[in-house]
Amino acid sequence: MPVERVHWEDHFAAGHGFLTADDHELRLLAEAVGPPAPHARALDIGCGLGAYAAALARLGYDALAVDWADAAVAATRDRYAGLQPRLRARRLDFTDDTEVESLPAHSFHLVTMRLVLAFLPDKAAIADRVRRLLTPDGVWLVTSSLTGRLPEERRHIGLTPSDVAALTDGWERGHWYDLEPGGLRCFVLRGPDHGPPPVRALGGSCESGRRDGSREHDRGRGRDAGGGRAAVVARGGA
Ligand SMILES: C[S@@+](CC[C@H](N)C(=O)[O-])C[C@H]1O[C@@H](n2cnc3c(N)ncnc32)[C@H](O)[C@@H]1O
Repeated sequence: MPVERVHWEDHFAAGHGFLTADDHELRLLAEAVGPPAPHARALDIGCGLGAYAAALARLGYDALAVDWADAAVAATRDRYAGLQPRLRARRLDFTDDTEVESLPAHSFHLVTMRLVLAFLPDKAAIADRVRRLLTPDGVWLVTSSLTGRLPEERRHIGLTPSDVAALTDGWERGHWYDLEPGGLRCFVLRGPDHGPPPVRALGGSCESGRRDGSREHDRGRGRDAGGGRAAVVARGGA
């Protein structure tokens, strides 16, 4: 078993959680993804204790929570037993192609990852796996720290500008919002390109359904999320 997985197994087996997703965060999540269509399916990757997956099940999604740590899966099942069968949980290592291929292609309308992507190697490969799982109009929502907002000793838990570029390439549209100024950032990426690699990603056409207060943000110039080539729409400010 990889040493990182042992770490997470021990963490959850000892009854520890992680930074809690509060009501404010869950309300913004619900606003960002909108009400699900009947029978819409959601996948929460690296579910930990299952807060995002439970919130999605409560919104009406058929939610599947996966984590490579058995202890996290057990905790999610235990904490949210009352939400079954709308919420299910299973062990799955999202860096393992064979395990990921056990999930049906193009069958999830929403994929979420909260405080997970920074820990996974090869962000572009992760994005490719997510694209394979999403329906053509699917949404990938990633909540993460950014390295530029973290002290030196905690930068390993954040996304670098090049991670952000790898994350946001290859989507029709996208926007981001911050949970609080200088806090966690949520990327909302829509419409995976299932064809050949795109010439431009998230480009000028951007988000058609902008809300009040929205604005374009050029990732290439952005202080925190820089490193990419294309524009995304930001809600809430940098
Ligand atoms: C910081 S915790 C976040 C947990 C939860 N998403 C939350 O926000 O509370 C990171 C989670 O990612 C899981 N994880 C790390 N690497 C993984 C992998 N390769 N496949 C699936 N889950 C993974 C860990 O077991 C852990 O539950």
